[in-house]
Amino acid sequence: MRIFAPLSIAVLALASLAASSQKAVAPKSPATATQKVAQTPPMGWNSWNFFFGKVTDKDIRDSADQIVATGMKDAGYVYVNIDDTWEGERDANGVLHTNAKFPDMKALADYVHSKGLKIGIYSGPGPKTCAGYAGSLGHEEQDAQLYAQWGIDYLKYDLCSFIPAVMQKQAPDDKAAQMRLMIAAYDKMNKALKATGRPIVFSLCQYGWDAVWEWAPSVGGNLWRTTGDIQPNWDRIYALLEQQAGLKSYAGPGHWNDPDMLEVGNGKLSLAENRAHFSMWAMLAAPLLAGNDLPNMKPEIKAILTNREVIAIDQDPLGKQAGRVYSDGEVEVWSRNLSKGALAIAVLNAGDSRYSTHPFHLDLAKLGLHGPLQAKNLWTGKAVTLTQNMSLEIPSHDVLLVRVGAQK
Ligand code: GLA
Repeated sequence: MRIFAPLSIAVLALASLAASSQKAVAPKSPATATQKVAQTPPMGWNSWNFFFGKVTDKDIRDSADQIVATGMKDAGYVYVNIDDTWEGERDANGVLHTNAKFPDMKALADYVHSKGLKIGIYSGPGPKTCAGYAGSLGHEEQDAQLYAQWGIDYLKYDLCSFIPAVMQKQAPDDKAAQMRLMIAAYDKMNKALKATGRPIVFSLCQYGWDAVWEWAPSVGGNLWRTTGDIQPNWDRIYALLEQQAGLKSYAGPGHWNDPDMLEVGNGKLSLAENRAHFSMWAMLAAPLLAGNDLPNMKPEIKAILTNREVIAIDQDPLGKQAGRVYSDGEVEVWSRNLSKGALAIAVLNAGDSRYSTHPFHLDLAKLGLHGPLQAKNLWTGKAVTLTQNMSLEIPSHDVLLVRVGAQK
């Protein structure tokens, strides 16, 4: 059970405040020239969205097996990430041990590596993690060294108890000082990770506070959560999407906005919603961390998660995140530039009824384009000709995702 439930609500409120008060300044360049990880948005799987606190060593092994067996590995998924609840107690020397669910982390890492995959782990700068397990406060170097000894390739570092235990305690009523403490805590772990000499992806999880996109690269962040937690329902997924408009200039090779892990295949999402969620995360150059039950994945969910052409949008080497170009009623048009002069366009019907905004006409001029344009529908695989003011019928919570070739 979540220990910081009331905190999460405050976190959500502040996160949306932070997201809405974003400043339009140029992103800082990444702190070190040595960062070679995350040149495209990280792809993989994380335990939290399906297993939550129940995850075990066996679940991680089974998921790694499935990433290979389902073809997800071939499609680009590489990180197998253990989220919260693996942690045990510290011994007299301060060395953190795993709990009974994870009997031997080194052996688990070796197993995941033997599949040609990489392994991620989770901690936080506070005394406790969000689920109330041991955090890294005061043991940052020790923990980073331990991760490196185990062979860990990715760390998600979650703020949670650092807020009451350090920020609010050391700087009551001084928000600016609290934020400085938070940034210093992330930098501390960044330096500890760098000191190991092992390339470890550093994932910041502090829900978008203090316009994290402006400073995360300067503390070695390869990705940073821009929002509170995702849930497997359309309203929440759409709410997170809305918070990404305006953030595109902060993403690029080595440093990405993270609107949270995928819920594709979870909850009661319809096929259209799963497709739209995956399409929009690809448009956002978001990390693609699946979070579903891989051993029981339905074929239609596998087909979504392994759509190579949609993944290619996400993984485009230019690393240019999409922006929302315009909305018309509940239909939104997003576009992103791709390498070699290509372009991806997503037309999303965020409305609840199929014809809520009918008829919708695609205004190519607003996208700076002139029709007719030859494009490919990435979900049907069919060619489509885009023309000025063409009428489109997009079902509720579904998307038209197209790739347009190089522009003359
Ligand atoms: C926070 C994070 C989630 C997850 C949980 C684990 O809520 O935002 O992604 O890691 O903690 O306790």
